[in-house]
Order: sequence, then C-alpha cells, then structure tokens
Amino acid sequence: MANVTLTINGVQVTVPAGTSILDAAREAGFFIPTFCHDPASPNFGACRICVVEVKGARALVASCSAEATNGMVVETESPAVVEARKTIIELLLANHPADCLTCEKNGDCRLQDYAYYYDVKKPGFEGERHNYPVDDTNPYIIRDMNKCILCGRCVRTCEQVEDRQVIYFAYRGFKTKIAPAMDTGLGESDCVSCARCLAVCPVGALTYKSLAGKGRAYEIKKEPVTCTFCDAGCQFDLNVKNGRVIGVTAKAPGAGRPLCLKGRLGLELLYSEQPVKPVLKKDGKFVEVSWAEALGLEGVLEKLKEMEK
Ligand code: SF4
Ligand code: SF4
Ligand code: SF4
Ligand code: FES
Repeated sequence: MANVTLTINGVQVTVPAGTSILDAAREAGFFIPTFCHDPASPNFGACRICVVEVKGARALVASCSAEATNGMVVETESPAVVEARKTIIELLLANHPADCLTCEKNGDCRLQDYAYYYDVKKPGFEGERHNYPVDDTNPYIIRDMNKCILCGRCVRTCEQVEDRQVIYFAYRGFKTKIAPAMDTGLGESDCVSCARCLAVCPVGALTYKSLAGKGRAYEIKKEPVTCTFCDAGCQFDLNVKNGRVIGVTAKAPGAGRPLCLKGRLGLELLYSEQPVKPVLKKDGKFVEVSWAEALGLEGVLEKLKEMEK
C-alpha cells in the first residue's frame, strides 16, 4: 500500500494511505483526546473533541474521521483547537452531574481526564439539566443516563454482534438519550448482559453493579485473562484489590469477539473471592440460578450422574 507523508506539529510523519489524522498523530506520539472514536467502528465523528487544525481547511477537522494526505500540515494543540476542546468540555459539563467524589469511574473517566488536562473547572453555560432515574433493572449493570455524553460507542458495539442491537439513540435534541426499544429499563429489554457496552463507555454512565462501592479505580489492578469457554477467546480483566479478585470485567471487545455473560460468570466462579450470584431471565423475570445452569452445564452434570449409576 502506498504511503503518505504529512507534517504534524512540525514533525514529518509517514503512514500508509488511508490512515486517519488521529492514528497518524498517535503513531508519532502526539496526544489527541477522543470520546466517540472506537477503532472497532471508526468514522462516527460525533463528539468533535478530536478536532485539529489543518492548514488551508476552512474549519477545524475531526481527526478521527479525516484521512491523512500527502503534504498536509496539521496542528493538534493550536490555540483554536484548545479553545474548541474547552468549549466542548464546558458544554458537556453544563449537563452533567459531576459527582466525581462518589462516581465509580472516578480516576478512569475521559471527561474527568480531559477537564483536568484542559483546565476546565466548571461548566461554561447554565441551562436545563437532565434528571433521569438511574436504571438498575438489569441484575449486573447500572445505567445512569445523566452521565451519558452521547458518544454512541455503546450502541455501535452492541449492534456489532448479530441479534443484539439492544440499545439505540432515542428522542431528539435535548431529549436525545440512549435507550432500549420503547425506552424500557435495560432489565426489561433483550439485553444479554454481555457488558460490551460497559467496556467501551468512556464515562460513568454504565457501571458494574457487583463492583459498586468496592474500590476506587486507583486501588484496583487489572489483570488480563482469556476466557476458554469457546473458540472466541474473549478478553476479560480480573479486578484485583489488596491481592484479592473482587470482580471480573469485560475488556473492550474490538471486532469479532462477542463477549457473553456465561464467560464472565465462569471467570467470576474461577477467580473471584466472592463471585456474583448468577441470575438469569426466566419467563421475563430474573431469578437466581445454580452455577451449573448459569454456565450451561446442567445437561452435562446430569449425564455424568447417570453414568455414575
Ligand atoms: S462520569 Fe466522570 S466526570 Fe462524570 S461524575 Fe463520573 S468521574 Fe466525574
Ligand atoms: S450488555 Fe451487551 S447486550 Fe446489553 S446493551 Fe450492553 S452491549 Fe448490548
Ligand atoms: S452510555 Fe456511555 S458509551 Fe453509551 S453513549 Fe453514553 S457515554 Fe457513550
Ligand atoms: S473522537 Fe473524533 S469526533 Fe469523536
């Protein structure tokens, strides 16, 4: 494949043709913030936090969805870029609870990180705020749409797996929100609790119920582990605090890895000191089930018992 050479912050960078400005800049070691960009479903271009200045362009360019081209001259932190990013952060904070003190994502949140990086201390605008009830209808997941920044990563990652497509952009304008069909709670939807959406959410809108209150991000060490229940080889993280596994979380799935509840529960049983109680939906209601049933091993165990007779 042909290469292109461009100049980023005064440095010449050569990348394969078709590379985005974002990837070219990152390749060269330059920081560009992103909210909505997901390498597994690129070119969404909604949040614009990744804008850069391209010489000759009439407006700032979203670097995640614009291709690097030969001779391009790019500035990633010019005054205009910094001002635009600050404004985006101020706008997001204007409709955000900012309860970082008690938020489960404190220390692992892009909105918090970027507000710190660009020295945005408070919302730059006053106006109406959302006041959605927190959705805890799913036994494994808490959804706080007051903290959602509408980056759409959860929607895109959910729909990457056939037959899921559980959540969508609902309503319009200020009322736009991520919701299952008919805006029900997640527990009443067809959600399979795979946690793909949790793995890609950049803020505290989607969190694990089982980990609530168990530790701050800086106290928890993540140890990668591969699920061996099936050939997909999905990646998870053991969450280790004070030498103890306090839970298992999904890693960003990328393309092609489905992630499933069974895999996560199986790893919980294997590694966690106090594994979550397995719960499955039966006749539309969540009920606690045995580990054998949760892991789809019931038939196997019965057959083994029969063989013993
Ligand atoms: S989502 Fe991020 S910015 Fe919002 S309250 Fe949580 S840690 Fe703070
Ligand atoms: S947990 Fe999985 S199925 Fe449920 S909404 Fe998230 S990505 Fe979709
Ligand atoms: S819930 Fe998280 S991933 Fe989904 S749109 Fe909101 S901020 Fe983005
Ligand atoms: S990260 Fe580029 S537009 Fe959102």
